Amino acid sequence: MNDEVIKKAREFLTPALVFHTEIVVKKARGLMVEDVDGKTYMDFTSGLATTNIGHCPPSVVEAAKAQLDRLIHTGCIYYSEPAVELAEKLTRITPDGIDTFFFSNSGTEAVEGALKLARFATGRQGIIAFTRCFHGRTLGALSLTSSSARYRRNYHPLLPSVFHSPYPYCYRCPLGQDPTTCSMECFDYLENLLKHLITPREVACVIMEPVLGEGGYVVPPRDFVKRLRKLCTDNGILFIADEVQTGFGRTGRWFACEHFEVVPDIITMAKAIASGLPLGALASTRELMKKWSPGAHGTTFGGNPVSCAASSATIDTIEKEGLLENARTVGDFALAKLKNMQKKYLPIGDVRGLGLMIGVEFVKEDRSPDAGLLEKVLKRCLEKGLILVECGDDKNVFRLMPPLTVKKAEMEKALTIFEAAVGALGAIA
Ligand SMILES: Cc1ncc(COP(=O)(O)O)c(C=O)c1O
Repeated sequence: MNDEVIKKAREFLTPALVFHTEIVVKKARGLMVEDVDGKTYMDFTSGLATTNIGHCPPSVVEAAKAQLDRLIHTGCIYYSEPAVELAEKLTRITPDGIDTFFFSNSGTEAVEGALKLARFATGRQGIIAFTRCFHGRTLGALSLTSSSARYRRNYHPLLPSVFHSPYPYCYRCPLGQDPTTCSMECFDYLENLLKHLITPREVACVIMEPVLGEGGYVVPPRDFVKRLRKLCTDNGILFIADEVQTGFGRTGRWFACEHFEVVPDIITMAKAIASGLPLGALASTRELMKKWSPGAHGTTFGGNPVSCAASSATIDTIEKEGLLENARTVGDFALAKLKNMQKKYLPIGDVRGLGLMIGVEFVKEDRSPDAGLLEKVLKRCLEKGLILVECGDDKNVFRLMPPLTVKKAEMEKALTIFEAAVGALGAIA
């Protein structure tokens, strides 16, 4: 049955789509997915950081079903309660001052909207992004995406006046520095960019993933993010935090920027916002949004009532069940266990993360990336019923991103399977 569906998928779906596994899922609930042949798996990917409160959470299913019976589409012809209710609810959980929203259908669209708002509101054209970040695949967002040249291949020329500065990836410093002795040369690089390539007065925005997602699950130094916020404020540049992957509790806070004690001018979100129903949002202050004149941006499906009802139910559930706290507790437990494994197994070069956004980097003896070993480990985990996926340009980092509902015992079980796979492949220190 599995094979038949995959055969048809290969026949009728574009080969441009790359799937991480060969599992055909029939149904899913919470942490578990079941394939068409009845085999079950623990999903430690949350459908790529999207089903943050588990698959098909009952509260979300109920809210979406009730909304389906009432109204499915508005298309900016009329107002609807779910979108307004959600916007009001989001105001409560977004950082202070962020109180006005534009709803889209996806993360890449939220990023497109953020770029348009930044250019429109500042009257400036320049955009600064960071290498290794992923911001989406539509042509504007793709001009920022640099987690891999693979995504950009054959699409040039992209948006002009986009400049990239190195992401502060301390385990593999892009400037060859040692993080224990460096003086943040990566920040100097950005300042030099503003001296040599574009003047600060021409820059509309800087966009950053507060924790690197697709590019390798990297947590930047807090001082870097704080200095970046100050540089933006001093120069009238808007700071966009792309929280599409880090948002909605993934790091143990509603938004990852809270860990760095900075408030962005614009936040983009999607993925987990509606537990898997298509929805994205860009959020900003009323003051900034007021500069976007009527008709300057729009959408047909964005703010769909069913997705918005699902999103409101998602927020309520995260609050009611204390899931941010659970993400911090179980995340800290996992981080400590993985750091212990790092002492035992040479190929585990680095373990890092916040909450339930944890990256484990596999390396060879000379510290070069070891994608080959990681691939074997992930394959073995899958055979034992545990779904994990890799990230990073070199595909040598595995990302742990189970739902925020994961229990300590479930995490322990997954890490036992993972450790057994590492041990079985002879990766002893
Ligand atoms: C940080 C970030 N921004 C934007 C996107 C694009 O989101 P979407 O795939 O919903 O267009 C992603 C998707 O992985 C992401 O991780």
